[in-house]
Amino acid sequence: MLDIQTATAIPHVTRREDYTPPDWQVPEIALDFSLDAAATLVRATLHVVRDSAHDRPLVLDGGGQTPLSVKVDGVAVNDWRIENDALVVPLSGTDHVVETEVEIAPDRNTQLMGLYASGGNLCTQCEAEGFRRITFFPDRPDVLSIYKVRMTADKKRYPVLLANGDPVAQGDAPDGRHWAEWHDPYPKPCYLFALVAGDLVANTTTFTTRSGREVSLGIWVRAADLPKTAHALAALQTSMTWDEQVYGREYDLDVFNIVAVDDFNFGAMENKGLNIFNSRYILADADTATDYDFDAIAAVVAHEYFHNWSGNRVTCRDWFQLSLKEGFTVFRDQGFSADQGSAAVKRIEDVRGLRAAQFPEDAGPLAHPIRPDEYQEISNFYTATIYNKGAEVIRMIATILGPERFRAGSDLYFDRFDGTAATCEDFVASMEEASGEDLSQFRLWYSQAGTPRLTATLRQDAGGSRATLTLSQRVPVTPGQPVKQPMVLPIKLKLFGADTATTLAPERLVLLDGPSEQLVFDGVTERPILSINRGFSAPVVVETDRSADDLAFLSAHDDDPFARYEAMQQLMLDTLVQAAATGQADHKAVIAAVAHTLDDAALDPAFVAEAVLLPSDNFIGDQMALVDPEAIFRAREALRRDLGKALDVRWRAAYASTQADAFVYSPAAKGLRRLKTVALGYIAASGACDAAALAFKQFEAADNMTDRQGALGVLVAGDSAERVAALDIFYNRYSDNALVLDKWFQTQALSPRDDTLEQVQTLSRHRDFTLANPNRARALISAFAVNQRAFNAASGEGYRFVADQLIALDKLNPQTAAKLLPPLGRWRRFAEERATRMRAELERIVATPGLSKDMFEQASKSLG
Ligand code: ARG
Ligand code: ZN
Repeated sequence: MLDIQTATAIPHVTRREDYTPPDWQVPEIALDFSLDAAATLVRATLHVVRDSAHDRPLVLDGGGQTPLSVKVDGVAVNDWRIENDALVVPLSGTDHVVETEVEIAPDRNTQLMGLYASGGNLCTQCEAEGFRRITFFPDRPDVLSIYKVRMTADKKRYPVLLANGDPVAQGDAPDGRHWAEWHDPYPKPCYLFALVAGDLVANTTTFTTRSGREVSLGIWVRAADLPKTAHALAALQTSMTWDEQVYGREYDLDVFNIVAVDDFNFGAMENKGLNIFNSRYILADADTATDYDFDAIAAVVAHEYFHNWSGNRVTCRDWFQLSLKEGFTVFRDQGFSADQGSAAVKRIEDVRGLRAAQFPEDAGPLAHPIRPDEYQEISNFYTATIYNKGAEVIRMIATILGPERFRAGSDLYFDRFDGTAATCEDFVASMEEASGEDLSQFRLWYSQAGTPRLTATLRQDAGGSRATLTLSQRVPVTPGQPVKQPMVLPIKLKLFGADTATTLAPERLVLLDGPSEQLVFDGVTERPILSINRGFSAPVVVETDRSADDLAFLSAHDDDPFARYEAMQQLMLDTLVQAAATGQADHKAVIAAVAHTLDDAALDPAFVAEAVLLPSDNFIGDQMALVDPEAIFRAREALRRDLGKALDVRWRAAYASTQADAFVYSPAAKGLRRLKTVALGYIAASGACDAAALAFKQFEAADNMTDRQGALGVLVAGDSAERVAALDIFYNRYSDNALVLDKWFQTQALSPRDDTLEQVQTLSRHRDFTLANPNRARALISAFAVNQRAFNAASGEGYRFVADQLIALDKLNPQTAAKLLPPLGRWRRFAEERATRMRAELERIVATPGLSKDMFEQASKSLG
């Protein structure tokens, strides 16, 4: 319960149903920057056109600046006013030129929104509402303009000047300064504006599009980082080819630049022709980046590149449509990554991510549909729901339509809405029109929040040769949505025979669209086993009464790799939930299934590594009515120990067979490295006395970060002399590499040791810890908050620690602070003592004077 008296102010809520088209359009804008870290002068010349017959003034959003001057049609005016940070200019006609001049201070911009300084360079981040912090402008995605940009800056400090589009001209200016002009011919919303000024070098190459346009590609970094750009550049070229082949989409400018910066609020940004990236998604070499990092770099490079069509050429009408570009683009980057290696393992990873981040969000106080109805602060809606559930919704459309009809729908969508600001409805209608499929009921996926629960019960009719499958669905209540309608669930399923291990009923796609449905299968002469939601065809929770035997059967025989993985996970979950709830554990079935998987020489080692991993503490907790962090931890550790001991010979064999001569980045080599460290982890879990020595040997001998960090993680979980030594060696070796130091912090925050909370508190006072860098803040705080046992320490100290950090971070960077709040909002999932302590911290946050609206929205809704 929020005491309204002490709350900051009544929050302003923006509602989707209140959308109205802009009063004024701005077909052209010319920007002139006199760049300086302490005082940058921004002159903007806007050609404004009244959009319909109305008599309202021109309202230009602002970010707290005061204009130094305002001119209309070349004449200085003073009848303007500032209202809620916006510049209001009365205009008499329908077509005017409005000029404004403001001064901003990039070096004091700790929010990292707008124009800011990072590592001595200047860069921008405008999505969603950062452009208004640079200049006065209608900061909404349905105002599309052609941009001309001129920058002047000190030539020594900022030898490189980049902006959107193509370079037009450059030259020297007085006082050691120089200038450059860029022109972007494609109309774009201001959230896609970008500039960079800095001391940078580029790794460059060219790409020839399928229609023959030669494009210069450049990845811009500090000179010292140049050797770490090859992987990102190669990924960019691969992405460009993939989008031509798979979606028929070509690049449309002569230049495509990417700049890496160290201080960035999220992963990367798709500014037209000038992507700006968090350096962690660009820089990689074998010594400093893990396989996971290499894969993530390729995925994010692809994601931002794909936005050139799904986001830039066709943009969003308003921010409620965010999933139009993000869900679709995540779906596209997932398809790209699946095509670069094992599609099965990629699907497993994506589903694990969805369950770790999106399912809890959808089940908690911040649940929202992929097309939300209202927000206080749009930055809070760059969520796993918008991105990852959004991608699952597009995937379901693709599943229902099949590849040809889906591609026809995508072509129609891009053709029809090219150059416009579109809606989710436009996308679905294009899919419908191109395919002839009726998606009316399917649209509920856009408006209803919550993860549907699907119950499946399979019964073999007594004496007969038939089986009946009963499917039923229930969509849980979420905040503001007490009543739900049944959704369309595309469920792929198949029946196996328990005795012959053959197919009883081939795979079929069932569209469950009512509350329940019965399917009858004939010719079922042996006990049938149900394989369901194959490929994770619908993002739902499946409840079945399949026995441990059935799950073991599927984990050994299912021909759908995801379903096979899923059967093993379910077997493990059933065992662990039972153990956590009752203290009674029977590990036999899991041990046998894991042994069988390790023995199956036909399986891809990357798949084996995924399949034998136990579900996380958090995911086990999500299955329980109330989370008991200590009981879950004990149950999981006990199963790990038993698996380690019982299968010691197999783990050691796997460990030996996965050793490689020299580092290669290939799907096969990655799979071996993954399995190697998983095996090492089980050897250590068994309590084997040589485990620390083995891990330390891997740590020291490693010629790549995957093996080194993998070994470090195993050591950090234990209590050996090698643990201390490895942490020191790692720190000293990488003390000047911020991205690797993040791993040093993160690995310790994730440790299952009893003293992790105290270690993390100490690390927060380490001289290399700072809240000013979002990567560093996340490395410690987010990692700690997913460490279920440490974060939920019964004392409440974990909650207090996180709340203290967030209150401090909010003063610097509200957007990044607010993103870290949701773990504190999970209090309903815990028994009284912990719930009370979490709520107390949320209340303390809400009562903090000067709290940002970002944090206020997250914290107050979490208390709700
Ligand atoms: N559009 C960017 C991307 O997904 C992310 C922008 C995030 N913006 C924000 N305010 N959180 O590629
Ligand atoms: Zn995106």
